[in-house]
Parts: sequence; C-alpha cells; structure tokens
Amino acid sequence: MRLLVLGGTLFLGRHIVDTGRVRGHTLTLFNRGRSDPAPVPGVEQIHGDRERDLSLLADRQWDAAIDTSGYLPRVVRASAELLAGGIDRYTFVSSISAYGTFPRPGLDEDAPTAPAPPPDAEDVVRYYSELKAACEREVEGVLPGRALVVRPGLIVGPRDPTERFTYWVRRLAGGGRVLVPRAMDQPVQLIDVRDLAGWILDLVEARATGVFNATGPATPLTFGSMLERIRSATGGRAEFVWVPEDRLAEAGVEPWGELPLWLDLPRHEAFRGFLAVDIGRARRAGLTFRSLEETVADTLAWLRQRADPPKQASDEVLPPPAGLSKERESDLLERLAT
Ligand SMILES: NC(=O)c1ccc[n+]([C@@H]2O[C@H](COP(=O)([O-])OP(=O)(O)OC[C@H]3O[C@@H](n4cnc5c(N)ncnc54)[C@H](OP(=O)(O)O)[C@@H]3O)[C@@H](O)[C@H]2O)c1
Repeated sequence: MRLLVLGGTLFLGRHIVDTGRVRGHTLTLFNRGRSDPAPVPGVEQIHGDRERDLSLLADRQWDAAIDTSGYLPRVVRASAELLAGGIDRYTFVSSISAYGTFPRPGLDEDAPTAPAPPPDAEDVVRYYSELKAACEREVEGVLPGRALVVRPGLIVGPRDPTERFTYWVRRLAGGGRVLVPRAMDQPVQLIDVRDLAGWILDLVEARATGVFNATGPATPLTFGSMLERIRSATGGRAEFVWVPEDRLAEAGVEPWGELPLWLDLPRHEAFRGFLAVDIGRARRAGLTFRSLEETVADTLAWLRQRADPPKQASDEVLPPPAGLSKERESDLLERLAT
C-alpha cells in the first residue's frame, strides 16, 4: 500500500514506519525534520510544518494517511480536508485521554468523550483530552465512513521519549533502595509500541474504520505485579521501599509525573478507570501482546545503547520527561521511609 504518515520519526510513528517498510509498503513521511533529521532508507520524506505547509501534500495520492501528530482540531481538520480527495482512509491516533474522565473501570468506545474545549483553546497539555476528542470529531466529520480512530493507552518500549514506563525499567535495573508507592492493587494498562504499530497497520491493511481503545495486557495487571516483574526482568537487584500513598501526597509527590503510572486513586477518583478501559473491541480485531518481560528487556537494551537523553515528544506540546531525580528520591526516602 502507499501510506502517508503525518509525523513518523519519534516513537509510535517511527515504529509504524519501520514495520510498514518490513511489510513492503511504500511510505511517505511528512514532518519538520526536527525530531530526527536523518533520512530513513527507502522512505520518501517531505519536510514541512503541518500548520502551514500542507500544500506540499496537494495533488498526491495515497491509499491511507496515518496521523500520529495531531493535537489541534483546526490543524487536523486542515489535513483531513486537504487529503480527502487523494486518500481512501485516514487513521487518527487519538488517546484514551479523549474520554476526559474515568469514573469507573471498563469504559468502552461508546462512552462519551470529553466536551468541546473552550473556543480558541490551544494549550495542548491543559486541554489534551478535549482537544484530542475534538480532533476525532473533525476527522470523522470530514471523512465520514473513512476514518479509523485509535485511542491508545500508555505506549511503552524502545524510543519512548516520555520516561514514564522507562523510569521504572531504568530505576529498577539500577538497583538499591527504590521509592515505590504502596498502591499494589492499582490497575495498570500499557501497550508495547511495536504491538500497537503492527496492529494499526493490520487495521489499515484491512481498510478498517471505526473507533478502538488500544491498550493491554490481555489479563489484568496491577501496579505491584508490574513492579515485581520489571524487577525480576532487570536482574532483581532493587529493594522496594513501599511508602503509603497518603504520605507521598502529604509530601507533595506528584502522581504520574514524579512516580509514573501511580495514580493516587484515593485522591483522584476521576482516574479510577484510566488504566482499566475495555479492550474487547480491539482484541476481537486482532490486537495481541508480547510479554511484559520482552518489553522490559528491549527497553533496557535500547536505554543502554541510547546516546542522548530523551527528546521531547513533539517538543512544544508535551510535558517534560517523567520520574524522580536521584536527589529528590534520596530526599524522599530519607524523610518518608521510616
Ligand atoms: N506516548 C503515549 O503514551 C501516548 C498515549 C496515547 C496516545 N498517544 C498519541 O500517540 C501519538 C504518538 O506520537 P509520536 O510522538 O510517538 O509519533 P511520531 O510520529 O513518532 O512522532 C511525532 C512526529 O510528528 C512530527 N511533528 C510534530 N509536530 C509537527 C508539525 N507541526 N508539523 C509536521 N510534523 C510534526 C515530528 O517530527 P518533527 O518534530 O521533525 O516535525 C514527528 O515525526 C500522539 O498522537 C499521541 O497523542 C501517545
């Protein structure tokens, strides 16, 4: 197939490109050439900013466009409109966050999404949910019956620029006393970027349309068992120092940002179902998962050969990489681990 990827050089997009090449697709990437200016062999690269240079894609034909870099409804609408006559299908990579609030486990694709953002709201961090949901509506509005909307949960694995799951892999591989929230039973969902990329391509190849939650694993995972399994898979040298959630909250430790994947559910009821959405539709559409241990091993191998610190995802729009600094963790261990 002839595939256009809007993005394609940082993380999920890059894995879609790598898998697409292996499967023999003809790929064109459209991005600014900032995240990874190196040419990808055998792939056409068009450099431009999707906010102003979309005309570079005019009068071209592809079987499908895959949009991994859409955050603002007006920008996504412009690309859908420009491409509508030259493509068959448009895949928009949205997010589980599009639901906006997660009061219960088991939200499926029929649950309501976040309300419209305030007019002219373009703060992608603050209005991420509202903007992603609005982007979905733009794609579906411009290309009725031709849109595939994928709502991933936390995406993890090699090349992850966010340091969320990676924080735990790096920290537990490092050994020693590790500060961990006493939230063993909290549900956790995540998906290996390569499982997601391959499955998105499966859907694109099948010319699928509709909306899909996309996260894993197949059977429920808890925060406690995730940490245990990462520890085992990274050599078992770390010693867990479990600190009660209320003590972490009193000390001002930020869930998710400072201790990734920890939600502090006693104080954040609206996130009860955030890492526990329904994935039945995706499973019926063929989504499968490699083992957590494989993801950990490959993430660690990537970390060890990585030359540079992580690049910010889409630089201006996403928050800084997650996790506690060494100094902050030591300070908290001293104060809280009594
Ligand atoms: N990470 C997660 O856990 C998670 C969870 C749920 C959903 N998601 C969604 O998954 C997608 C993941 O994206 P990714 O960053 O991994 O994709 P990617 O396609 O690998 O990287 C982002 C691409 O967008 C390009 N880009 C950014 N701004 C651009 C602009 N103004 N004009 C043209 N190109 C631009 C970047 O290149 P240049 O910088 O060179 O332009 C880069 O190629 C996002 O839509 C995100 O909302 C992520």
